[in-house]
Amino acid sequence: MTKKKPAGTAGSKKKTKKKAPTKPAVKKSVAAAKKKTPLKAAEKKTPVPGAKKKTATKKGSLQKATVKKTAARKILPADKNKSSRPAAGSITPPIEKVFLPNDWNNTEKIILARRSTRAYQKKQVPEQMVRRIIECGRYSPSEGNYQPWRFIVIRDQKMLKEMEADAQKMIAKIWNVVNYRDHPWRKYHTKVFEYLAPSMLHPIPSGAIEAVAQGKFNVFWGAPMMILILKDKRGIGNPDLNVGIVGTNMVLAAHSMGLGTCWIGISRVLAYYKKWRRLFNIRHPWALEEALLVGFPIGDPDGFVHRDTHKIDWFDDNGHKVVR
Ligand SMILES: Cc1cc2nc3c(=O)[nH]c(=O)nc-3n(C[C@H](O)[C@H](O)[C@H](O)COP(=O)(O)O)c2cc1C
Repeated sequence: MTKKKPAGTAGSKKKTKKKAPTKPAVKKSVAAAKKKTPLKAAEKKTPVPGAKKKTATKKGSLQKATVKKTAARKILPADKNKSSRPAAGSITPPIEKVFLPNDWNNTEKIILARRSTRAYQKKQVPEQMVRRIIECGRYSPSEGNYQPWRFIVIRDQKMLKEMEADAQKMIAKIWNVVNYRDHPWRKYHTKVFEYLAPSMLHPIPSGAIEAVAQGKFNVFWGAPMMILILKDKRGIGNPDLNVGIVGTNMVLAAHSMGLGTCWIGISRVLAYYKKWRRLFNIRHPWALEEALLVGFPIGDPDGFVHRDTHKIDWFDDNGHKVVR
């Protein structure tokens, strides 16, 4: 088994062979797709399900970039006369070319077109909807039916602001410790951190940490509410995985109701504060795993986004084949 190594830390200039889907790469692929695919006319004739007009979003927000990318990608599935071909680079045909969107059922539409929402309306989510979302989480499968999770719903706006401020403060501190691009003498201890927590210092999370530390990104994107997911470390087998399934169920349930969501992994920094640990009763065996933002999106962030395809070994009665 091969183990994926991080491409480097925030300060690193190293490149790995397999590119992580960083933003510039995505932008480049969209630009290439636009250039090579003169589909404007077809796009008008055959709208893709789920493709709606975009409305303006908050200036400078990540959501804005997301909407742009989505709009460009939505051009692709409309052109049914063209042969299947990658949107860009070595990407295999996008899902909407392989299985036509008109044939998708509602669950498939929600799964395939869901995007993270990073711009929210101020309007609060009705309590009944939140309860339905949580029920979809509660009914998730888990190893041995152990259900190693606990939820905390936060809709108090003052508290949300305080959490945002605290998360930003802690992230700025973390960045100050690991940022060796601007402070070369920190390189060696950052290398140690990188060794101890490789996934935390992968360029993508460390890029997000840098952006938050510089005040370019929010942590909680102004969502009117969030659901914290806590993990019971005693869970059978792999509680992290079980908690991921719970969150996925809640995310899909929320999207099926027309809501937007965003997982917030960096919310974990809140557990560094005693006051939040106390308030949320986070102590062994509990750990703050993730926050799920929930709210009515500004515009419609949903749509298609590039995903890598991986070779699938497929053993049939007729033998072995490799599919993508
Ligand atoms: C476990 C997990 C943690 C995430 N943490 C964050 C986060 O801290 N901040 C953020 O803006 N997005 C976060 N995301 C959202 C991802 O960036 C997003 O899912 C990914 O870029 C794919 O885009 P899509 O969700 O729009 O399809 C997280 C997603 C997952 C699944």
